[in-house]
Amino acid sequence: MIVTGQWVPRRWWPVRLGANLAGLGGIVYGINARTPGLGLHGQALAVLICVVVACLGWLVRTVTVYLDNQHRTLTTTAPSGALVTAGGLLMSIAPMPPALALAGVGAFTAAVELTPALATTLTAAGVLVAAVGTATINHQWVAFAGYSGGFVAITLAGFNRRQYKQRLVQAEQLLTQTRIAADADTRAAALDERTRIARDIHDVLAHSLGAVAVQLDAADALLEADTDTPRARHHVQRARHLAVDGLTETRRAIGALRNDAPPLGDQLSALVADHYNDAATPATLTIFGEPRPLPVNAALTIYRTAQEGLSNARKHAPGQPVTLHVHYHHDNVAVTIINPTSTTTDGSTLGATGGSYGLPGLAERATLLGGTLIAGQDATNWSLQLWLPT
Ligand SMILES: Nc1ncnc2c1ncn2[C@@H]1O[C@H](COP(=O)(O)OP(=O)(O)OP(=O)(O)O)[C@@H](O)[C@H]1O
Ligand SMILES: [Mg+2]
Repeated sequence: MIVTGQWVPRRWWPVRLGANLAGLGGIVYGINARTPGLGLHGQALAVLICVVVACLGWLVRTVTVYLDNQHRTLTTTAPSGALVTAGGLLMSIAPMPPALALAGVGAFTAAVELTPALATTLTAAGVLVAAVGTATINHQWVAFAGYSGGFVAITLAGFNRRQYKQRLVQAEQLLTQTRIAADADTRAAALDERTRIARDIHDVLAHSLGAVAVQLDAADALLEADTDTPRARHHVQRARHLAVDGLTETRRAIGALRNDAPPLGDQLSALVADHYNDAATPATLTIFGEPRPLPVNAALTIYRTAQEGLSNARKHAPGQPVTLHVHYHHDNVAVTIINPTSTTTDGSTLGATGGSYGLPGLAERATLLGGTLIAGQDATNWSLQLWLPT
């Protein structure tokens, strides 16, 4: 099988590679320095064959460790097996630390890279080869015991290293997931804020510009009939006044967003008074229960509901009186806005100017706070009911 893969440069890889090859050179030198050494006859030949096999395993492992290939199990198992077997045989020909080093590198790599079951099997195979070799060749059981102990200890160190690497990977994954979650939270918060600002823009514009349009409609009708110029002028002035109010309202909305709005009761009274001035139709506010400061978002939602309710009454039921009730209960506030449905029209085109964004926007506000908004009409009245937990 041809093993291909992407070259993954590790940190300090030239130094690591150099140390790796130097280590192998040192081990081979150490083996050759002891009897029987490397040679072409008898045990020396056996040592030479073991060293060649081990060197091949070592080199393959050294290269494949840098490849992000799909066959890591094979490219680790084969060289580790070669190292463990050759090391075990060398140990039984002439017990020496370099033999343990060769087998140990194979066992350590297997323990780090392979599954625990496969690594344990390789370690057991290495001990078995050394045991068979000791029994048949040199019978040095004390050396065998030391070799096996060291070999098992190296394998355990490899398992330890494997767990450490796994914990690092898990920590990195956790960090990545945390970052993704934090990004999603930030995006959701930005989206919420945009939706909230969009609602406020709608509510301020629908209220103030709608009222301006009523005044301009009236002025236009009077000017066209050329009957009552002073009244037409009055309407134009009123429109100007409303435009100024719109600006004030915009500032008020910003104040509410910044958490420094006046008491809700005052705001609602002003709203009702403005409605009366603008539409010249009765509007009454009645507050039940003990008023108390409400959370900013709840107060803003109640204000917006009253504002849209009055604006809608002006647009969709012109000339009809409006009743606004606010009930303070111990853990919630209920708001009801009622007007008789209009059977006639005043000829204005205002009712058709909306985009039907008002009520859905209010419903969204209520839902976000865990409340409900119900709008509808019976035989005689249109009603808008808001309920908010507080
Ligand atoms: N007070 C009311 N009296 C009679 N009908 C109403 C009243 N309020 C709302 N409606 C009806 O409900 C519809 C939806 O109202 P909504 O406030 O969502 O939209 P809009 O007022 O038409 O437009 P926008 O609020 O976007 O300017 C209105 O078009 C109207 O038919
Ligand atoms: Mg509306």
